[in-house]
Formats: sequence, C-alpha cells, structure tokens
Amino acid sequence: MIEANRLFDVPFGTPKPERLIERVVHIATDPGDLVLDSFLGSGTTAAVAMKMGRRFIGIEMGDHAVTHCAPRLRKVVDGEQGGISETVGWQGGSGFRFYRLGADVFDAEGRITQGIPFEHLAAHVWFSETGVALSSRPARRAPVLGVHGETAVALLYNGVLGDKRPEGGNVLTRPILNLLREALPGHEGDWTIYGERSALGPATLTRERITFRQTPYDVKARR
Ligand SMILES: C[S@@+](CC[C@H](N)C(=O)[O-])C[C@H]1O[C@@H](n2cnc3c(N)ncnc32)[C@H](O)[C@@H]1O
Repeated sequence: MIEANRLFDVPFGTPKPERLIERVVHIATDPGDLVLDSFLGSGTTAAVAMKMGRRFIGIEMGDHAVTHCAPRLRKVVDGEQGGISETVGWQGGSGFRFYRLGADVFDAEGRITQGIPFEHLAAHVWFSETGVALSSRPARRAPVLGVHGETAVALLYNGVLGDKRPEGGNVLTRPILNLLREALPGHEGDWTIYGERSALGPATLTRERITFRQTPYDVKARR
C-alpha cells in the first residue's frame, strides 16, 4: 500500500510511492537544496525531501494541510519508518514550520486589494521592509508597526487613526508625526513611514530622519 494511505484512514486519490519521489529528488537535487511542491496533496514530496536531507516548501489549499500533511511531517520528524526510511537510514530529526497564508494583498492587476484590512497590509509592509514576519498583530489604531534595527516603521492607512477621509490620518503632517513619536517615546533612530502623501517637505523629512514611502506605489509585491 502507498505510504500516504497507510498513514491515514482517508485514502488519497493519486498518492505517489516515496520510492518514486526519491528517484526524482535524487536526480534533480543535491542535499541541502530547496524542493518546492506547490500542490502538496498527501505530503509525499515533503516527507521524502526531509528524509533525504533537502529543505522544502509545500503549499496546500485543502483542509488536509492541517489534518494530513502536518501530522505526516510530524511523524517523519519523530522518526517514522515507512517508505524510504530504511533505505536512507532515517532516524528522525529535522523539522518544519507551518504557516497560514493571509488575505490577498494585491489583486490580479497588481493593485492593492480594495478594502484590505489594516492588519493584513501592515503585515505585508512590515515583511517587505524588514524581511521578517510581524511577531504580533498590530492593534487597529496603532500605525507604528515596530522597530527593526534602528528604524521604526509606520503605516498611515485608511481608518487606522479612526478617520476614513483621505486627509484624516493618511497624510503625514506635523500632528500625525507627533502622534507617531508619542507612540515610541524612547526611539531616537530613523523612521520609515508609509502614507498617501507627505505634507512635510524633503528638508524636514531629512532633518527628522524620515524615509517617506507613498501608498500604494511604494508598497512592493516582492522585496
Ligand atoms: C494531485 S495532488 C498533488 C500530489 C502531491 N504533489 C504528491 O506528492 O503526491 C494536488 C493537490 O493540489 C492541491 N491544490 C490544487 N490547487 C491548489 C492551489 N492553487 N494552491 C494550493 N494547493 C492546490 C489540491 O488540494 C491537491 O491536494
């Protein structure tokens, strides 16, 4: 019986034997390479990649990502002995992280999704600025997202300051800057501030050590 079906009560329609995937991974990659399976299914490719000392990314939209793929990979980490384990001398170890994708930030034309909640845009902006995930969900009315290294990052976006008019919190003005500074009293480093427009001129921005980025144009899909 195919390993994926032996491991779980619910059979998968088209599971591949680990031995077959091992062949493919062996031909196409070296230890330490990154294997991508963007249709993870029963998780065979990820399981085999882990047993063969490859890094991997698996993407799955079905609920079985939670009910099957993650438990299967946990078993592999714990030293599961099915499939190719004996051949490759698998004793367990390694590991993986499980992430849930958030809402779409961009639509098919590359525009910021209309009405995207602040939290989702904030998480994206933070990641594109810092390269790391936002560790805690930003509070709804807290435009200061955090400090990375020496730089504080802030996002002025519809509704974040409780006023949905374009001029009501999305434009960087002196009062808004004061609000941001009040939120981070001890911060003496630089600022990166996203907003619709800056009412502060270039000389002021330089003096205040602010890099201003304009939404939506400076919100990048990739780093
Ligand atoms: C035939 S299975 C893949 C088999 C798997 N690669 C293996 O090693 O056995 C296809 C899987 O792709 C998933 N899928 C289809 N479209 C997807 C998408 N857009 N994003 C993520 N997963 C998707 C399905 O839910 C299904 O579990």
